[in-house]
Amino acid sequence: MTRRNIPHAPLLAAAAGDTPDRTPVWFMRQAGRSLPEYRKVREGISMLDSCFMPELLAEITMQPVRRHGVDAAILFSDIVVPLRAAGVGVEIVPGRGPVMDKAITTRADIDALPILEEDVPEVAEGIGIILDELTDSQALIGFVGAPFTLASYLVEGGPSKNHEKTKAMIHGEPETWHALMERLTPTITRFLRLQIDAGIDAMQLFDSWAGFLTERDYREHVLPYSVRILEEIAGEIPRIHFGVGTGELLGAMSEAGSEVMGVDWRVPLDVAAERIHAVSGPKVLQGNLDPAVLFAGRDALVSEVARIKSEAVRAMEAGHATGHIFNLGHGVLPNTPAEAITEAVAIVHGEN
Ligand code: CP3
Repeated sequence: MTRRNIPHAPLLAAAAGDTPDRTPVWFMRQAGRSLPEYRKVREGISMLDSCFMPELLAEITMQPVRRHGVDAAILFSDIVVPLRAAGVGVEIVPGRGPVMDKAITTRADIDALPILEEDVPEVAEGIGIILDELTDSQALIGFVGAPFTLASYLVEGGPSKNHEKTKAMIHGEPETWHALMERLTPTITRFLRLQIDAGIDAMQLFDSWAGFLTERDYREHVLPYSVRILEEIAGEIPRIHFGVGTGELLGAMSEAGSEVMGVDWRVPLDVAAERIHAVSGPKVLQGNLDPAVLFAGRDALVSEVARIKSEAVRAMEAGHATGHIFNLGHGVLPNTPAEAITEAVAIVHGEN
């Protein structure tokens, strides 16, 4: 396919360091349980099965775009979809997250871990349907999980509070750990490649749990693999890199090579920009409203959005950043009132 040529879409203009017509905004986890129309179409279908149904995944991807007027769609998928596509036994348990049939504990388990070598036509077809429906001012963001965050689910066997098995492997059996990262990276790259071939306009690398690591461990055990994934697609589409609780890692994460750095809500954007700039020079910022503020009512929303926008302006005026894409500091919480999301988008756009 030929990629859409839509440089004036506000999100793509901002990601390129140009001046968009308005501050672009989208929300991580904008699709999903906050929307009644999502709960309706997902009824009786498991989360992971829905990610392999082209019409359904396209419908779910478009729901928040239609309802809230955001500047981007994010592909409805999950970080474990490439594992499922490769043949790994994994389910998503509602209220918990991805749970593996069998945790990875030994070198033999790693050697037996399937690698994604085939296309995933259902996902490519879903992307085609979404692109037909989006306007030229709305971007489609694809995504993959970073090897560390995926490895954590594999090693722990499921969601983990402290990531102790993962850290035990990193420190106790570093060779085994590196073998796992080597094994996972091609599957992630392959899943990203097929999304790009299908026409996504931008991508986000989710290293959601990287913030559990020290900078030293991040640099030695994680960063080289994220570098490899982002390098693979350098110059093709804008790349966004994000993790939760990564205030202390922003400099190191910026070395992975993305154009845009996602910032969680704990660090003001101007402070984040200083940290990024000191290591990698100015980049575009994405973030960083606390998702809980969507429960706090209109006045709180107006003042928090204004604060965040002014912190981004300060970062740009200081020469520490080249643009701002508005987002949350992590995903939409499941019980968020859908109306608050629509309201937040209008406030960011200055339509209130
Ligand atoms: O709208 C979007 O942002 C796109 C969809 C998206 C999903 N998962 C859909 C989903 C994205 C970008 C993801 C990525 C993902 N999945 C991450 C990285 C982003 C982040 O939040 O840090 C992680 C860590 C996962 C793993 C995962 N999958 C978790 C922790 C959960 C939540 C479990 C729960 O029930 O609370 C999931 C399931 C999931 N992924 C849901 C959705 C809409 C909820 C499932 C449902 O509706 O039944």
